[in-house]
Amino acid sequence: MDSESRLASGVYAKRDIVIARGKDATLWDKQGRAYIDCVSGQGVSTLGHANEAVARAIYEQAQTLISCPEIFYNDVRADFLELLSTVVPAGLNRFFLCNSGAEANETALKFARLSTGRPNVVSTVRGFHGRTMGALSATFEPKYREPFQPLLSGFSHVAFNNLEALTNAVNDQTAAVIVEAVQGEGGVHPASDDYLRGARALCRERGALLIIDEVQTGFARTGAWFACMRSGVTPDLMPMGKAIGGGVPMGAVGIGDAVRTSPRARMVVLLAATRWPARPASPHSRR
Ligand SMILES: Cc1ncc(COP(=O)(O)O)c(C=O)c1O
Repeated sequence: MDSESRLASGVYAKRDIVIARGKDATLWDKQGRAYIDCVSGQGVSTLGHANEAVARAIYEQAQTLISCPEIFYNDVRADFLELLSTVVPAGLNRFFLCNSGAEANETALKFARLSTGRPNVVSTVRGFHGRTMGALSATFEPKYREPFQPLLSGFSHVAFNNLEALTNAVNDQTAAVIVEAVQGEGGVHPASDDYLRGARALCRERGALLIIDEVQTGFARTGAWFACMRSGVTPDLMPMGKAIGGGVPMGAVGIGDAVRTSPRARMVVLLAATRWPARPASPHSRR
């Protein structure tokens, strides 16, 4: 406790418990007292602690190859992408991989501006999307936002579950609407089916992209693989995180066709898809 109290940033208020180990949904402190883990790493360890399959996968991968950037192909990542594509809402058929939920939201916001060429993002009152500068701009809670002003321009917040408010806010300058299928940090407030379906139709009609943030609700936290599937709604961009890695910090964004096929995005995707030029033979290379 002493070292952490002295050396950690102090950003988070701590409880007076030293958590020493866990198994499934049980935690033990230094004194051997057992607790039911209702925190679950804040929605991260949904497969429990010391899960044998997760531990084995981490161990085996670490023994084989510890990292591999996307400039190379990799068989394990390919298998992962195949598997991920089978559980997301139909229509999300490309994926960007990253390291956290906030980063997944940053990415989705960037894709939205990139592919629409529009500056603005409509978010919701009580919405939470992370604490990096872009994700924080979409987050509502003033106490998270105010110390870091100025945040990104072009963000507004409208009442959640209120289609009229959304309809009044979305216009030809709106790159995206970003919304949680169930607001988590802001209290547990599920979006109604009508709201999500209405948001889907509105975005399509006005040329904005629909981002449904499934960082908290994804990977079966609400029973369905993703909460938006319960309403039969497929977003254009779906940020994921937390439970995706079973405890390993990870994030991803599911990307729909409306993003990739926009003329602006196509330019960039084409650039990104350019292969490395063949290397000219070096006079020193042995053939
Ligand atoms: C809905 C939602 N989006 C994004 C985030 C940020 O995710 P991370 O903490 O992995 O950056 C959270 C975290 O609680 C969240 O609940």
